[in-house]
Amino acid sequence: MSGDTAADRRCVAVRSAIGEDLPGIQALLQRSGLPIAGVEEWLPHFLLAEHEGRMVAVAGLELHGASALLRSVAVEPDWRGSGLARQLIDRQLSEAHERHIKDVYLLTTTAEHYFPRLGFACIGRSDVPAQVHESVEFREACPASAVVMRKTLAER
Ligand SMILES: CC(C)(COP(=O)(O)OP(=O)(O)OC[C@H]1O[C@@H](n2cnc3c(N)ncnc32)[C@H](O)[C@@H]1OP(=O)(O)O)[C@@H](O)C(=O)NCCC(=O)NCCS
Repeated sequence: MSGDTAADRRCVAVRSAIGEDLPGIQALLQRSGLPIAGVEEWLPHFLLAEHEGRMVAVAGLELHGASALLRSVAVEPDWRGSGLARQLIDRQLSEAHERHIKDVYLLTTTAEHYFPRLGFACIGRSDVPAQVHESVEFREACPASAVVMRKTLAER
């Protein structure tokens, strides 16, 4: 990570995405090998981290009834390993909890060994509720080989 100091990490600001962030988010996702289908639709539920005005990480949440789909978690290579993904995911899980979401799902082809540390476990596709199955990411964007994971949130 460039500028690898605690001070730099404190200077990362997290905020919700707005319309003009869309091209930058799509570019970061594409550089990270992740799909962009459905991003525009769910943009208000995307969080991004910025350092000195540069977008360095993103994480999105789709809301489907009592379930949510965590998606589009990407960190610029020079900022990986500094806890940014965890920070954004924790914020999205808190947001889901506030919204009385029961289960948070995700699809990944690259990071199934990352998410267990955040409480996600692998499940079968048949365990995914129909509403989540209908999402663009599920139907079109992620290959059938993607691993499906779930985290059940504590009752409020
Ligand atoms: C996966 C990703 C989001 C992690 O971001 P990050 O900010 O580096 O993650 P954190 O700082 O919260 O955690 C870093 C830790 O996770 C581990 N880790 C990172 N990516 C990993 C992966 N793909 N598989 C397993 N472990 C991974 C690191 O080795 C590090 O471990 P340590 O704490 O034991 O040193 C980032 O590598 C990335 O953008 N990858 C490309 C896009 C992607 O695959 N997204 C996930 C699918 S939605």
